[in-house]
Parts: sequence; structure tokens; C-alpha cells
Amino acid sequence: MHETPKTHERARVLTGDRPTGPLHLGHYVGSLKNRVRLQEDYEVFIIVADVQALTTHLKESGHIKEATKEVCLDYLAVGVDPNATTIFVQSQVPEIAELTVFFSMLVKLSFLRHNPTIKTEALEKGLGEDLTYGFFGYPISQAADITFLKARLVPVGEDQIPHIEQTREIVRKFNRLYGPVLVEPKALVGDVPRLIGLDGKLKMSKSYNNAIFLKDPPELVRRKVFQAVTDPARIHPTDPGHPDICTVFAYHKVFNEHEVPEIEGSCKAGKLRCVDCKANLSSTLNRFLEPIRAKRNAFAEQDGLIWDILGEGTRRARAIGSQTLSQVKEAMGLSYFPKQSPQRVP
Ligand code: TRP
Ligand code: SF4
Repeated sequence: MHETPKTHERARVLTGDRPTGPLHLGHYVGSLKNRVRLQEDYEVFIIVADVQALTTHLKESGHIKEATKEVCLDYLAVGVDPNATTIFVQSQVPEIAELTVFFSMLVKLSFLRHNPTIKTEALEKGLGEDLTYGFFGYPISQAADITFLKARLVPVGEDQIPHIEQTREIVRKFNRLYGPVLVEPKALVGDVPRLIGLDGKLKMSKSYNNAIFLKDPPELVRRKVFQAVTDPARIHPTDPGHPDICTVFAYHKVFNEHEVPEIEGSCKAGKLRCVDCKANLSSTLNRFLEPIRAKRNAFAEQDGLIWDILGEGTRRARAIGSQTLSQVKEAMGLSYFPKQSPQRVP
């Protein structure tokens, strides 16, 4: 009988999110679904980037802990398996901060200044003169997130590619200067589909207020779907519709594939009322979300479970981090003391 080798080394993958609120359908379609699939063949790590969340939520830092819990519940609800995937919290891995400091010496300001994602984000948020060192430099910290683990693959959306490029540049420079310690990661940009907002905006996003969250109760999902924009030219139900410009139709295409030809046909023929089409979509979405909600609640009810999972994941990440940092310092010639024996309490 042919046995699958269990011992072969699986490539290490790192992805992550800033904990700024619960996750929505756009996250599911764009990344969560992929993560659940990846955990079968790769050694997956997920970073809850709470330090990076400070770049935009400095004054709301008191909410970050709750958001961290929410995000972690969303992971588990969609099927991330804490036994297969390591979920950890950025601020609790001091080795990341340490590595960031070393990396900050390697990165030229001129390079950082040209990062298009930082430019766009700073502009979108109107940061101008308020731009902080931490915001401007978060790609360096992100490079540390990736490299302290020696991750090979980083599944990300297109906007993150400049950060991965920057990471690769840092790794090459480090290894050139000090020897081959770090691993140059690759961005894994699969067909990461983007879910448009309910308002027809290009992207579903909490900040645009156009999102359906994975934890939204059925009635709220329904209400949100009924507010979605459809074909604006359609005044009477018998007017022929243009599904290609309709938000509701875009959602049918993602979540209700098998009914798409029929919906498209009857919409174009003026035989499908938008209210019925929306009612169909909201039931479809609720059918999809029901098991996710149930799983989420089951995890949420087990007091302290999330913190146990994150605590264990963070311990695992730290163990790797402390090894990498020893190697990094050794390579740089910054290793001073004999191997530390367990500390004695005086
Ligand atoms: N910058 C990412 C985002 O906003 C989050 C993130 C932080 C991340 N550290 C990471 C993603 C490391 C991949 C790898 O979505
Ligand atoms: Fe959109 Fe459906 Fe109305 Fe056609 S019937 S315009 S697809 S909501």
C-alpha cells in the first residue's frame, strides 16, 4: 500500500490581519477560504498584527484586544484548525520588534518612500504631516513578521506585493552582509477574488460601511442585502435589467453559482423582480453563514478558549523567534555571552 509521507517538510506559510474589527464576506472570499485549504499541505502561521493596527488605531488601542478575539473567532468559525495552524499575536513576540530594529538599519529611506501601498494608504487616510515613523516603517516590521519564522510563502492581496518585495530586498541584503541566515519569501497571489461592496464600491470594507460580517445575525444580513444597489435604470419590475452592473448579481455569482444563468436570463427579460432577487440572495447568504455562525458561537461560549489557543500559538512562534534571533545576532557578530543556563532566582 502506498503511504503518504507524513514526515516530509511542509513549506511554511505566513499570513495575517490587523485586528481592527470582525471579518466580513470580502475577507472570506479573498483570503480565509484559501487559508483553510492551505493548512492541509503547508505549515500555516497566522499573525494577528496588533502592533500594525496601531498605525491607524492609536487612540483606540483599548479595543484591539477585543478585536483580536473577534478575528480569532472568525478564523475558527470558517474552519481554521488550531491544531494544524498556528495563530499568534504580534505584540507578544518581542523577537519581531527586535528584528525590526536590525532591519531598520538595512532599509534605505528612499526605498521606503517609494512604496506605493504606503503612499496610497497615507493619502486615503489623509495623514499628511501626521504620518508617523511607525506607519511609514510598517513594511519593515512586516518583513520581520515574515522572516523571524523563515516563512517561504506569503499569501496576500495585490496591495501587499510591495511589502513582500521590500522583505525580499531586506533578506538579500542581510544574507549578503552576514551570511545565509534568512529565507527569502515569495508572495502567493493566487486568484484572490475581490468582493465588491453592497453599495457597488470596488471593495467590501468595514471603513466604507458596506460589509456583511461573518457574525451578522440573519435579520441584519437580510436588511443589508435589501439596501444593496441594483441596476439603477430599472424602475418597473418589467423593465429589462442589466445584471452585469448590479451588485446583487455580483454576489449571486460568488455565492449562488448554480442559479446564475436563470437569474441572468429572467432579469434581462424583465421577469424577475429585484425584491425577489434580493430575498433569494439573503436566504442564500444566510444558508452559507449559518454553520459559520454556529461554530463561532460554540467557540465563543468556551470561556478562555481563544486566549488558550492564541497563547499556545504565540509560545510556538516565540520558540522559533528566539532561535532565529540567536542566529541573526550570531551572524552579525552581536553574540556576547555564553549560552544562558536557566536563571537562578537569588
Ligand atoms: N499588512 C497586512 C494587511 O493589512 C497584515 C499583515 C501584517 C501581514 N503582517 C503580515 C500579512 C505578514 C502577511 C504577512 O492585511
Ligand atoms: Fe439585480 Fe436581480 Fe434586480 Fe436583476 S433582478 S437588477 S440581478 S437585483
